[in-house]
Amino acid sequence: MEKTFLMVKPDGVQRNLVGKIVSRFESKGYKLAGAKLMTISKETAEQHYGEHKEKPFFGELVDFITSGPVFAMVWEGENVINTARNLMGKTNPSEAAPGTIRGDYGLTVGKNVIHGSDSTESAEREINLFFNKEDLISYEKQDSEWIY
Ligand code: PPS
Repeated sequence: MEKTFLMVKPDGVQRNLVGKIVSRFESKGYKLAGAKLMTISKETAEQHYGEHKEKPFFGELVDFITSGPVFAMVWEGENVINTARNLMGKTNPSEAAPGTIRGDYGLTVGKNVIHGSDSTESAEREINLFFNKEDLISYEKQDSEWIY
């Protein structure tokens, strides 16, 4: 089953949105495979956002993501990578539809509450960057047969 990496950013943790955000993915029917509250080192942040190294906002991005604890998660389910991005809404909260996480809780493109992998490759890379294999739990859920 497909897996994705999602992370409540420091603004989401400070604003007590972790529970609400976890609830959206649980309610949708996805399965939580791993989660941890953690602080990110500058080195890990630079690696995570490596593709944006040349962007003018790169320094700001790294400073922000390392500015406080984040809640890192791995979620599992059919088409979870794309569907989670739809549930998150557009990167810029001013363009994100109401009902999406960023549409409901975010205000600026920098402090936009949540990060999510945008492809199979980035999901694999980001999961491996933030989690050890033994941190991820494989288990059956009783409601699976009502979802699939
Ligand atoms: S781009 O340029 O289209 O590739 O960038 P985008 O995918 O829109 O955004 C990538 C991440 O950078 C964050 N971002 C910013 N942070 C601070 N300031 C500015 N101006 C800015 N623009 C984009 C944005 O929140 C994305 O973070 P993640 O964690 O990937 O969602």
